[in-house]
Amino acid sequence: MNKQPIGIFDSGVGGTSIWKEIHTLLPFENTIYLADSINAPYGPKGEERIKELCIKNTELLLNKNCKLIVVACNTATTNAIDYLRANYTIPFIGIEPAIKPAALQTKTNAIGILATKGTLSSKLFHKTTNLFGSGINIIEQEGEGIVQLIETGKLYSDEMKGLLNIYLKPMIEANIDHLVLGCTHYPYLMPILLEILPKHFKIIDSGEAVAKQTKAILEKHQLLCTQHTKSTHQFCTNVNPKVMTELLDGNYHVEYLEF
Ligand code: DGL
Repeated sequence: MNKQPIGIFDSGVGGTSIWKEIHTLLPFENTIYLADSINAPYGPKGEERIKELCIKNTELLLNKNCKLIVVACNTATTNAIDYLRANYTIPFIGIEPAIKPAALQTKTNAIGILATKGTLSSKLFHKTTNLFGSGINIIEQEGEGIVQLIETGKLYSDEMKGLLNIYLKPMIEANIDHLVLGCTHYPYLMPILLEILPKHFKIIDSGEAVAKQTKAILEKHQLLCTQHTKSTHQFCTNVNPKVMTELLDGNYHVEYLEF
């Protein structure tokens, strides 16, 4: 039995999509979530700055006695997880765009990937596409502006629909049959994507896989909370909590914390 919390961080509110998957699979685990929204988006910041921000978030979660940290951000994972694993002793779970399942399942030999600049330009992303994408037409698209719109409460806006129409058009024209969501903010786009994309498209994100990996690593390190009592969840943001509260359907208190 281990009641220490799982720490989760993202550049903002997007990682709550990962938190939901983790909470569904591991309902008795206590969690602490950090939304570093004041520094969002991480995507255009460059590797060194992203690493610095990840260190800041990690130190805070360690001070809060977390037993494992989920880096619920593709951009942070692809730029900083090797550094974090090399410099801290607790286990880290990362998230990467699900290129592998898309590449294995495509029938049209064309897949689309929507992610941030920081993810698409990272060494880890290139390694994964080289490993699984040979012979497949991979249409990469930077989702510039999407994270900011979600962070500012403009998820269901005309501006968002306009951006997505522009970003997805070349993918539709290239006859992709799988769209990989390479950013943890993007699962919140699902209702809009379903409106825009042809019905046969498969949309893939890595949320469920991250939750399963979290469970496996907790088991491996004997860190799982085996006591079946009600779990507690602390959500912290360094901006106005309104947007995050809405994404959590008003079910949880979100506190303002300077970090
Ligand atoms: N949720 C982050 C990700 O998965 C967004 C990155 C950003 O802030 O640019 O990449």
